[in-house]
Amino acid sequence: MHKVYADYAATSKHKPPEVWEAMEHYLKEIGTSPGRGGYSLGLEADRIIFSARQKITRLFNGDKQNNVFFSLNVTHALNSVLKGFLKKGDHVVTSSMEHNAVARPLKALEDSGIIELTMVQCTKEGLLPQDEFEKAIRPDTRMIVITHASNVTGTIMPVKEVGEIAASKGIFYVVDCAQTAGVLPIDSKEIKADVLAFTGHKGLLGPQGTGGCYLSERAVQEIFTTVHGGTGSKSDLLTHPDFMPDKFESGTPNTMGIAGLNAALDWILRRGVHDIRAHEEKLTRLFLKGLQELSDKVIIYGPQDAAQQTSTVSINMEGYDAGEVSFILDRIYGIMTRSGLHCAPCAHQTIESFPEGTLRFSFGIFSTAEEVEYILDSLGDILAQK
Ligand SMILES: Cc1ncc(COP(=O)(O)O)c(C=O)c1O
Repeated sequence: MHKVYADYAATSKHKPPEVWEAMEHYLKEIGTSPGRGGYSLGLEADRIIFSARQKITRLFNGDKQNNVFFSLNVTHALNSVLKGFLKKGDHVVTSSMEHNAVARPLKALEDSGIIELTMVQCTKEGLLPQDEFEKAIRPDTRMIVITHASNVTGTIMPVKEVGEIAASKGIFYVVDCAQTAGVLPIDSKEIKADVLAFTGHKGLLGPQGTGGCYLSERAVQEIFTTVHGGTGSKSDLLTHPDFMPDKFESGTPNTMGIAGLNAALDWILRRGVHDIRAHEEKLTRLFLKGLQELSDKVIIYGPQDAAQQTSTVSINMEGYDAGEVSFILDRIYGIMTRSGLHCAPCAHQTIESFPEGTLRFSFGIFSTAEEVEYILDSLGDILAQK
């Protein structure tokens, strides 16, 4: 039986071999804490983290590698930013296509009376209505948070245009790049975001347990530390250091994970994000065309235009439950997909697939046209059998 992985939006199951080789090398040959001890093997661990910081900075066309902080994943990174920046009385504007990593911390801040929240309703395709978005901004709006691309429909958000709006009004601007880092070109200078938040295990092809943010100077100054602890620096003081990256990196990091991420970043920078995007866009176009030709029983969500979305495509099949099809695809055809609400209930309400959800396919740099054809044939088979 074929084994086809089509759940890259959840995590990149397939990685370049250099990733696990770097992790094994760290465990076998290094194994020390970074930033804590002057012995040379400790400095080796430092070098790995330093090198990964440099590469994230390069990937986002940034200038200051110390403005990168690492965390466990993008959920932790976003929580640090939102809870470390927002104060009582602040108004926040976000979209209805957000993942719970954004929506839940914002809701928790709203429920505890700290912020007021406006969630701008996107179109059925998941597109952001820019006029409505601008109208939602109030004099007391202190932050805008949006996802760079939806993890349900793949819809790419106009992050550059929103960045112009935020910059013109002096509003702090956070972009969740979980679905786009390593997949779409991201230019910190063009987007003008104060925070570009990333997770290491999706398009960045690193291991789980890695993530972080690239911060603007304003973000470095204005976000308060929410996790205090040991940093290996200024140990004589009980006050947490206010310099980067120690300000947001308390405790021993996931050095093994960052070693893997560092190798993955090398691979991505060598290959080139434009090349990765071209490959994924080609597969998405092939898949969308195949779905459109398959049957009028197939409902496709999102823009249905490979240029306007990532390689994530959500569907439903009339007369079928998404979970049932996902199960059949896995057990009979060896195809791994994800069905349900994808931790983004508001996005499903927006595209009118709530509460059942959708069947989601997502491709990565290691996906092939043959795999896409096989998925289409398998869906055709399932439809023919009913
Ligand atoms: C848009 C978006 N934001 C945030 C996350 C959360 O990522 P993580 O679980 O790595 O923190 C995801 C993961 O699916 C996502 O797709």
